Amino acid sequence: MLFASLPDRVRLMEVGPRDGLQNEKVIVDTRAKIAFLNDLADAGCRRIEATAFVNPRWIPPLADHAEVAHATQQAPLKGKATWAALTPNVKGYEGARAAGLDEVAVFLAASESHNQKNINASTAEALARYAEVAARAVADAVPFRGYVSCAMGCPYEGKVAVKAVVDVAVKLFELGCYEVSIGDTIGVGNPRQTVELVRALKSSVDVSRLALHLHDTRGAALANIAVSLDEGVRSFDSSAGGLGGCPYAPGASGNVATEDLVNMLDGMGIQTGVDLRKLARASLRLEGLLRRPPASKVVAALRSELLAEMAAEVRA
Ligand code: HMG
Ligand code: MG
Repeated sequence: MLFASLPDRVRLMEVGPRDGLQNEKVIVDTRAKIAFLNDLADAGCRRIEATAFVNPRWIPPLADHAEVAHATQQAPLKGKATWAALTPNVKGYEGARAAGLDEVAVFLAASESHNQKNINASTAEALARYAEVAARAVADAVPFRGYVSCAMGCPYEGKVAVKAVVDVAVKLFELGCYEVSIGDTIGVGNPRQTVELVRALKSSVDVSRLALHLHDTRGAALANIAVSLDEGVRSFDSSAGGLGGCPYAPGASGNVATEDLVNMLDGMGIQTGVDLRKLARASLRLEGLLRRPPASKVVAALRSELLAEMAAEVRA
């Protein structure tokens, strides 16, 4: 029976400040980013990917990673959430560590071509780099997470074999990742494919330690999340307002919007800890800077009500 064993609660990873802002046309200034992080934490986001310690020549919008990460370890952000960043190598890890970030993440694709384009490494080279990062993180007792990108399709290779996804996920768990997030980087997956992929993963890894990271390029992310709940997935990445994309995955749009996900889960009786209206207001505050409305359908539906509330607050 569909939805025979739904959880009472799931874990979210808010990736808007990293996955979102890395791919917006407008570069958001550091103070506005820090205010956004504070808004996200105030809305109840408990795990937040704040930035990426990647080469600023590759990802200019996150060139202020050190300042942003440092701010997460000062008042008023410190302790309000678990603050994370991408770290593609030991140099990145050392930057994250110097700022005192709570956790880090390593990332690679199940497709060789995407790894070459995105991190300038083969899959084997990337795994060797991540073994070094993992050794440092284990020694420092810093929790780390892993991503498998292009799990449902690659912008350069097209179809990606399920076995390639499972192999990379297994290797990331072997390195010591506490959770591995399976990415539909270009948003091409469908519910049937999601169920088949999660079932294949379940035969090799612990499903309770998997997450899904679904870009909503073709509008199927919520459907894919809904069916994955039945397969035992309990952790999801999402992006406030639907911000995001991958600069090295042409055509990729934002992650599933956190507001849309929270709205669906609230309705299904599944808690996330996130206050939908507070979060939607955070996304609306950012839209003036980004010069485009949030991609979230729920924010669009609530827009006039929320703007009226926000205007009343300013007058009061
Ligand atoms: P590289 O050019 O091969 O690195 O980049 P290198 O070791 O040859 O060094 C070249 C230069 O980069 C040197 O500087 C290094 O110091 C510098 P130079 O001497 O020329 O001035 N460098 C660094 N600078 C800052 N931070 C670092 C760092 N490492 C080296 N950590 C590298 C290799 C991985 C760094 C590069 O390819 C890179 O930064 N890639 C990042 C790409 C990226 O961030 N993509 C988007 C995120 S992935 C994604 O969005 C998918 C995901 O959301 C999941 C999904 O959707 O499926 C996670
Ligand atoms: Mg992504």
